[in-house]
Amino acid sequence: MKILLIIFVVVISTNCNPCQFYDLLTCADFLGSWKFVELCEKAHVTHEFTKGNDSKTLFLPSRGALDSIPPAIIEMMSKNKTFLKEVIMYHLVPQKLQCINMKDNSLLPTFQGEQLRVNRYTSEQDNKTLITIEGAPDVKEREVYVGSAKIINADISTLNGVVQIIDTVLVDT
Ligand SMILES: *[C@@H]1O[C@H](CO)[C@@H](O)[C@H](O)[C@H]1NC(C)=O
Ligand SMILES: *[C@@H]1O[C@H](CO)[C@@H](O)[C@H](O)[C@H]1NC(C)=O
Ligand SMILES: *[C@@H]1O[C@H](CO)[C@@H](O)[C@H](O)[C@H]1NC(C)=O
Repeated sequence: MKILLIIFVVVISTNCNPCQFYDLLTCADFLGSWKFVELCEKAHVTHEFTKGNDSKTLFLPSRGALDSIPPAIIEMMSKNKTFLKEVIMYHLVPQKLQCINMKDNSLLPTFQGEQLRVNRYTSEQDNKTLITIEGAPDVKEREVYVGSAKIINADISTLNGVVQIIDTVLVDT
């Protein structure tokens, strides 16, 4: 009886968040964003997502977001490896950020070099918080495409950081 109980508890805790035992990339795969993993492999940047301690945030495009990347962007990514790498690294932030610590209108550095902007909205009806992430123009005031992405699944802890699932791929062109 005691043994059964212990097994039961372990199963429940792993069901809650298996990603706590995985690195960011394995977690991405687990969460169904395997196309993101494929892109990382193609760009030879997987190590950026697998190494290190608990210190990064991955804004991970959902499977649906990866399935609806505009064809022009897909073509650019397949033709130009530098561009592909930039798109991927634009989703990785060198600090661990839970949603509660994302301030409205704040800027986040990324491994790509350009920043991301965070906006927070709170619905007065149900107190739900909506957080959006978008490209932020840099000091050179370059044109930046801003697909505003919403966080649709928040604060998934992994071994080396936290995953925030977003509903749009972030592209800085
Ligand atoms: C991670 O943390 C451990 C223990 O705090 C430390 O020994 C190790 O060097 C760290 N690794 C990295 C890649 O920072
Ligand atoms: C490839 O992408 C990089 C980064 O976006 C860009 O600077 C470069 O001009 C592109 N090369 C070509 C041939 O389009
Ligand atoms: C919304 O949250 C605030 C602060 O947490 C609380 O004081 C307030 O009662 C909440 N309102 C509703 C409608 O839940």
